[in-house]
Amino acid sequence: MKIIIINGPNLNLLGKREPEIYGSTTFEEYFDILKKKYATVELFYFQSNIEGELLNKLHEIGFEYDGIILNAGAYTHTSIAIADAVKGIETPVIEVHISNVHAREEFRNKSYLAKSAKGVICGFGLQSYNLAIQSFL
Ligand code: DQA
Repeated sequence: MKIIIINGPNLNLLGKREPEIYGSTTFEEYFDILKKKYATVELFYFQSNIEGELLNKLHEIGFEYDGIILNAGAYTHTSIAIADAVKGIETPVIEVHISNVHAREEFRNKSYLAKSAKGVICGFGLQSYNLAIQSFL
């Protein structure tokens, strides 16, 4: 089983960025934990701050992998292009967020991707990614 976690803009700053919201663990640290926990799963990780690179990655793996776990960060709330990509590929996508986007500013309540996602998981901190992996198994 091949699963990829794709993180969008500003998620490279996890551990340093607004720790009261996103925690103080870096994603690299958490990804190591996930890789050990799911040793039998082929687990990959990609992060970019650039919308076009996220699109290219979705196109590249979206007909090949078994699952995509996508935290598109702020692009969730703005990007029709990423929403179209999620709609256009074959691999099922789980939309994840570390924070509960529904309990925050109103502009975070809207997701362009959710409609085409297999499911949405938010508000469980980094555990949101773990729950998304479990949903694919
Ligand atoms: C986020 C929530 C988004 O609103 C925000 O722009 C992020 C992170 C989350 O994981 O909680 O960058 O996707």
